[in-house]
Amino acid sequence: MDITPILSKNALSMRRSQIRDLLSVATRPEIISFAGGFPSPETFPVEDLKKIMQEVLDTEGAAALQYGSTEGVKVLREEISRLYKRDENLDVPVENIMITTASQQALDLVCRIFIDPGDVIVCGLPTYLAALQSVWSYQGQPYGLRHNDGLAEACNVLCATGKRPKFIYSIPDFQNPSGETMTLEERQYVVDVARKYDLVIVEDTPYKNIRFSGETLPSMYSMAPERVIMVGTFSKTFVPGFRLGWIVANHDIIERVIVAKQSSDLCTPVFNQMVAAKYLSSGAYDINLKKTCALYKRKKEVMVNSFEEFMPKGVTWTNPDGGLFLFLRLPEQFDTRELFDLAIKENVAFVIGEAFHSDGSGKNTMRLNFSFASDDKIREGVKRLANAIRKLYEKYGI
Ligand SMILES: Cc1ncc(COP(=O)(O)O)c(C=O)c1O
Repeated sequence: MDITPILSKNALSMRRSQIRDLLSVATRPEIISFAGGFPSPETFPVEDLKKIMQEVLDTEGAAALQYGSTEGVKVLREEISRLYKRDENLDVPVENIMITTASQQALDLVCRIFIDPGDVIVCGLPTYLAALQSVWSYQGQPYGLRHNDGLAEACNVLCATGKRPKFIYSIPDFQNPSGETMTLEERQYVVDVARKYDLVIVEDTPYKNIRFSGETLPSMYSMAPERVIMVGTFSKTFVPGFRLGWIVANHDIIERVIVAKQSSDLCTPVFNQMVAAKYLSSGAYDINLKKTCALYKRKKEVMVNSFEEFMPKGVTWTNPDGGLFLFLRLPEQFDTRELFDLAIKENVAFVIGEAFHSDGSGKNTMRLNFSFASDDKIREGVKRLANAIRKLYEKYGI
């Protein structure tokens, strides 16, 4: 049966992830992959979880295996509220927190409640690909901005032409893919522009607590709780397999998102939420997170040192104080899609930067993950990548 004629316009506007397609060739065991966004399995607290899971089943088995409320298990929301108080001195009432099936669902639900076909959302150039996929799936149009300071003018032009953005999507801490962090002034500026044009901000914070050095900066939510939807996740700080994320927002937004989630999955797995809440309240989460940050700091340093040792002239990179990714730039004239084929021949993989640019730019860029591979593989992989870049240079007589 040909289903194409009966597909919805939303389904037709969905775009396949270029990352997935490209990476299907990069799964061979001999390939060192810097492509995925996987946390290191070394950080997964398997033994602690065995004990806590048994405890939850022994003491609250019936409730843990039952359906739960759409907004999520209260003890977990209380733990999240406690973390905001402790880390940011921010008072977030439990009523303003709802649990989602990881932050990808949060992004999808936010798009679902705001985006009509043709609606504009403002985002970075580059930005997180799967957020773009959510926007596209509701027939929204991302308007990518290379520099934050162009935001006021962009909003001015968009509003004047009847394309008032539905929201500004931002990843202020250790951005995926660039690894960059917005300064306090930049955060304040985005909030000021949003206030001026009466816009919502979606603040996506998966890497905020994966910080290697320096101070945590205030969230935009803390500056404008009336208009910021803050999205969080335990995928990078705990385990991605539990699929636990959350939304912090004002009452009206939370109510809308709850209704949207009801028709999506009714509730997030209760067992996972109860186990996570116990893990957090035991204090083991904090200890493990410290170890995770130390591990990723070391891995990032191994990668940056290897770049310095092996990379040919003309290649530049970001050196983030946190997160999971680095962003590399080749000289303008090169295309990392072409480099990708050469890299696969050298048995190393990355993600082409173009995939993160909603306007198709960024052809000379690429994203590298440093959290997953072992130290030795990071060094070897960078060496192979540098060889592939040299081959690309040679092809163009450089
Ligand atoms: C910026 C950003 N937002 C959201 C997500 C989704 O993460 P999860 O659905 O596992 O919470 C990711 C995952 O890599 C991400 O990088």
